[in-house]
Amino acid sequence: MDIILKGSKPELDMPYFGRQSRFYDFFDKCIEPLMSENGIYAETNSGSVSNAFKFAKKGYKVIVNDISVYSNSIAKAVLSDEETNKIEHNNWISDYTKSYLDRAALFGGLIKKYGYNPITPDTLPEDLKKYIEEYKEHLTNIKNQKIRAFKIYNLDLFKYLDKLEEENIQVDVMFMDFAWPWRDGTQTDEYDTTANVFADILKIENEKVKIWDHTNVINEVIKAVKKAQKVSKYVLLSNQSSNFPTPELLEVALLKNGLNYNIRHTMLTDAEYEDDLGKCDFFREYLYVIDGNIRK
Ligand SMILES: C[S@@+](CC[C@H](N)C(=O)[O-])C[C@H]1O[C@@H](n2cnc3c(N)ncnc32)[C@H](O)[C@@H]1O
Repeated sequence: MDIILKGSKPELDMPYFGRQSRFYDFFDKCIEPLMSENGIYAETNSGSVSNAFKFAKKGYKVIVNDISVYSNSIAKAVLSDEETNKIEHNNWISDYTKSYLDRAALFGGLIKKYGYNPITPDTLPEDLKKYIEEYKEHLTNIKNQKIRAFKIYNLDLFKYLDKLEEENIQVDVMFMDFAWPWRDGTQTDEYDTTANVFADILKIENEKVKIWDHTNVINEVIKAVKKAQKVSKYVLLSNQSSNFPTPELLEVALLKNGLNYNIRHTMLTDAEYEDDLGKCDFFREYLYVIDGNIRK
């Protein structure tokens, strides 16, 4: 059976490059049967946090992680009560550094106005102010639902997986949606903005992200899946036919490395209709279900 499913918009709805909004309903159908009652749902690259929020709202314990300061600000804004301090800038930026919610709304507003090459003008343009205020309102509505994450990390995914092992945390599902390169094998620079550029705008230290390209992506993916198996019942690997590697290249690499996926779910989608990412008009999501080491 093949399906073209137009998923509903996620409830937590922030602009985020690579967000998988068309697939969340499909993921839900694939993931729900793998979860135990009150089980743990975890992600290595939570991005917009929209998918993780959905599982938290369903009542699962949720662990989110992403190296990006934007993703981490969204997570802490809506899924925690953690506070942070104002950062002194000599301009209007200071006003949006006082809480994680302010920071997430600032980043969302910058993306809406400038895309992934943001600038910070000396005075705050009226339209940007409006966008930021709209995102603040949206995030506040989500936060007020009092849905909380079990844990929130802001680490390189390998360090994150080591940490879960050290802390003896075992999860039902580890969902992995990497910063896959473009189809031509070049890296997706937009993640440099959501991590490094946004940290520089706030003037905070961050762990610098190194985006994978065709020279290292397959090796890194194999390494990451094997590490994830140590702390998971199921590892779910997401990839799209619009990325590099193609499904065939990825599958050969998985099988040659002993990663015999149990199930390969696929879903066809008809366009990047919401995010305007400029990829192919038609492409297919591949979701591989791989047994983890703690299966039984
Ligand atoms: C395709 S996006 C994930 C989108 C997410 N699934 C969603 O629906 O919103 C990939 C994410 O990987 C993050 N990332 C890139 N390199 C990373 C690393 N080494 N460790 C952790 N996260 C990383 C990026 O910041 C980005 O948020």
